[in-house]
This record gives sequence, structure tokens and C-alpha cells, in this order.
Amino acid sequence: MKRRDVLQLSTAIATGLVLPSITSCSSVVAENPSAPPAPPAAPGPFTLPPLPYAKEALAPAISAETLDCHHDKHHQAYVNNLNKLVAGKPDASKSLEEIILASDGPLFNNAAQDWNHSFYWKSMKPAGGGEPTGALAEAIATAFGSFAKFRTEFLTAATSQFGSGWAWLVVDQGKLAVAKTSNADLPLKHAQTPLLTCDVWEHAYYIDYHNLRAKYVEAFVDKLIDWDFAAANFAKAIAH
Ligand SMILES: [Fe+2]
Repeated sequence: MKRRDVLQLSTAIATGLVLPSITSCSSVVAENPSAPPAPPAAPGPFTLPPLPYAKEALAPAISAETLDCHHDKHHQAYVNNLNKLVAGKPDASKSLEEIILASDGPLFNNAAQDWNHSFYWKSMKPAGGGEPTGALAEAIATAFGSFAKFRTEFLTAATSQFGSGWAWLVVDQGKLAVAKTSNADLPLKHAQTPLLTCDVWEHAYYIDYHNLRAKYVEAFVDKLIDWDFAAANFAKAIAH
């Protein structure tokens, strides 16, 4: 970015034409020497998984700018915090799921957010969305009455989650259900099996949708869901 453009952006922020929170993680600001870079990976047993697609692949539903910030900075920070918290302790040799089930406080928050984000990346794919097929489609029709009713219930859960959290399609006691959790909480803590999730923390959508969470969630359902991933999780859940 040219110095002249940086100055114009700074002026726009100062005058309220651009929301500073929107640009706080953007590549625009990343090219500004004063912006914080993505944190380096902290040593430890846990590592940031690569995105299963290119950063540009989900656009325009989710921009490369959002994925750059969300994956490389937010998710990396959770992994780094987790590695620091388990360093030199028995937890360092435990699985992520074991830590999640046995912990609370900062250890739980960072372990669960690592798990949640890894699951979220896999819940989406380029040119995804629409309706599932096969056994999962039949189960959704049985549980919710129709795919349209499931869609409405999922959108309602995602948009009504107060503050930060997650919306989920889960198997709960053998039946499909929509669930929502706050902050880092997740179905694993409630004896539910997740099939897919939508991150509704503001960092997931603010660059692309500003305050319009509903527009982001609609794009997630209609354009991004990887129903093959959800169907595979469903098949494993009902096989148990
Ligand atoms: Fe997130």
C-alpha cells in the first residue's frame, strides 16, 4: 500500500468514514508497518492446522482478508496460548479432547477454541451450501419437518446467540438438533456429537459483513456448508 493511500485511510478512520475495527486485521493494515503481524507459532505439542482450501476460495461469502486474520492470527493465538499453558505439565501429552473434557478456565477456553476452529474450517468448502442428500437429508426432514425449517432454526440459533459463540448441528441422544454455545463452549462438553458449526464471534464476519451477523450466517448456510463433512460425521455418530 502506498503511503498516500495509508494517509487517506487514516483520515477516513479519523473522520468515521471507515470503522477502525473493520480494518484492524485487514491486509490493508497488515501492510502498514505499525500493524501487528500474525503471531509466530509457539513451540509445543499442538500446531495450527492448515486451512483445507486457499484463502481466496470462499470469497465472496468469506474474504481472504477475513481468513487471513481469523486463521493466521486468532486461531494461531489460541494454539500458542494452549502450548504455553501445557508446557512442562502432564497435559502436554494429552489429546485435545482429553484436555477439553477435564479442564476449565483459560486451559479449557484455549483448547476448546483450537478444537472449534479446526472443526469450523472443515465445516465449509468452496461452492458449498445448499441442501444435503442421502441419509442426512432424510434425518433432517424427520427431525425438523423440512430442510427449510432446519435452515430457519439454524439461522435463529446463530443470530440469537448473545455475544460470542457458536451455532451447531448436533446429534443429541440419537436425534438431530440445532444447538448454540457461548464463547468457547462446545457440544463435546454436553455429550452431543457435532456435525457442523458456524463461528459467530465477531472476528468471523466483521470485516466482510460489519454488524450484519444474519447476512454472514445466511451465506454460511447457503454458500459454504460442506455437507459431505457433516454427512460423514453423521454416519460415524449413528454407527455408535
Ligand atoms: Fe473464530
